[in-house]
Amino acid sequence: MKFYIKLGLWFFVCILIIESVSMLFLHNTVVQSLVDEELHSLQARGNSHRDVLEMSFNYETLHHIAMMESQTDTEVVITNLSGDVVEASNEIDTGIQFILQQEVLNLPRDGQVLQADWKDQKYIATVSPFDDSQGNQGYVYMLKSNNLIQAFIGKLNDHFLVAVALILFFLLVTIIFLLKVLTRPLISMKEATKKLSTGDFSVTLPVKSNDEIGELSKSIQTLANDLSYLKKERNEFLASISHELRTPLTYIKGYADIGRRKTLSEEERMHYLTIIHEESEHVHQLLQELFELAKMDENMFTIQKQSVRVNDFVSTIYDKARHVFLAQGHQLELYCRGDWTVEVDPRRFEQIILNLLDNALKYSAEHSVTKINVEKQNDDILISIKDEGQGIPSEDLPYIFTRLYRVDKSRSRLTGGFGLGLSIVKELVEAHNGTISVESQLGTGTCFTIRLKESFDEDSFTH
Ligand SMILES: Nc1ncnc2c1ncn2[C@@H]1O[C@H](COP(=O)(O)OP(=O)(O)OP(=O)(O)O)[C@@H](O)[C@H]1O
Ligand SMILES: [Mg+2]
Repeated sequence: MKFYIKLGLWFFVCILIIESVSMLFLHNTVVQSLVDEELHSLQARGNSHRDVLEMSFNYETLHHIAMMESQTDTEVVITNLSGDVVEASNEIDTGIQFILQQEVLNLPRDGQVLQADWKDQKYIATVSPFDDSQGNQGYVYMLKSNNLIQAFIGKLNDHFLVAVALILFFLLVTIIFLLKVLTRPLISMKEATKKLSTGDFSVTLPVKSNDEIGELSKSIQTLANDLSYLKKERNEFLASISHELRTPLTYIKGYADIGRRKTLSEEERMHYLTIIHEESEHVHQLLQELFELAKMDENMFTIQKQSVRVNDFVSTIYDKARHVFLAQGHQLELYCRGDWTVEVDPRRFEQIILNLLDNALKYSAEHSVTKINVEKQNDDILISIKDEGQGIPSEDLPYIFTRLYRVDKSRSRLTGGFGLGLSIVKELVEAHNGTISVESQLGTGTCFTIRLKESFDEDSFTH
């Protein structure tokens, strides 16, 4: 069964039960108070007849009372103490007889209700005793035919039925309207997810509300966008990889073909084999880096953090890298203004810094100066690597951490990395719960800044 039909039925049944119970309760209360009211007024009328009789008990008064009652929808029967009828406004039928036969003992002066059953009896009735100073004693019975009361209640029931029917009708209309409004976004979400599962990510879900349904709709939309982005990225990634592989493989194949020629001198053959070796090395390196990235994606690589003194740590790397810089006619400087501790995996963190230094070296002209700067800002340790190189155009800046992205699209061997270095750096920094940011100006230089939380181990507290 469809969800909204189920929901609607539940609503309907619940409200129907609540409505029936409250209507029954209301109906009973109304009927009960109506009958009470009738009995009360019968008793009051009986009492006032009694007062008149006690003032003057004679034939005229008796007759007058009976005549008055014969004109109304109530009846009066006056009896003496032993129950003989003295006067009555109507014939004494079996219903009246049944009431007169009831025993009345210790009757209070204001009388009492004799018969309150309006369903099964012919009359409801009250009785009031009279006793004047001349010794005239007896009872005034007041009666009202239940036919009248039943007819009135019948009319009341009709009104109740109309009310119930109207309420049910409006209830149905409201439920149908509510369900339409409530389930419309759910149905479009269901269709959207169905579309997603078939691989079609072109989903647009309007977010109309700020509630949970709106949130869900937003989440599905985000999921669809992410999936579509991932699909696009994967395709581009595969295209770039195959491109990256095709170039060295073309070289390898080409030079292998030439190398097989019998007429080749040993020297020439050696030359071609060297090229083949270099290109294979290139492919090997690419696969190595891709494998590294894949491991990161699978969360298969582990970071083994330990407390490290930034000063010593960066100095060691600096010593290693300085020679490489010098050998290529560059300068590397280190500024570390303090001694702080951070929690890092030394092997991975060295990889991060070396990668950034490699870029600084690769994308700077000769004789330029690269500076490593370590400082503290609030509780953060900032490690920045600033070069005086060619800089990165501002339109490329947002993408440089993307896999296989390179500013120089020509992929020439000379400027040639794979565009994987920075994406590996970013993943590694994030695995250390740090962040990396970049500032760059074309022609002036680039500065990468890594931000890490300072760690306070026992050692640093003693300082
Ligand atoms: N310090 C820098 N100065 C100028 N451009 C830079 C610098 N660092 C990175 N870039 C630009 O960002 C691109 C991406 O850098 P990334 O390190 O990811 O790749 P790569 O150095 O080309 O290759 P790989 O590091 O995989 O060998 C580079 O191709 C380069 O265009
Ligand atoms: Mg690089």
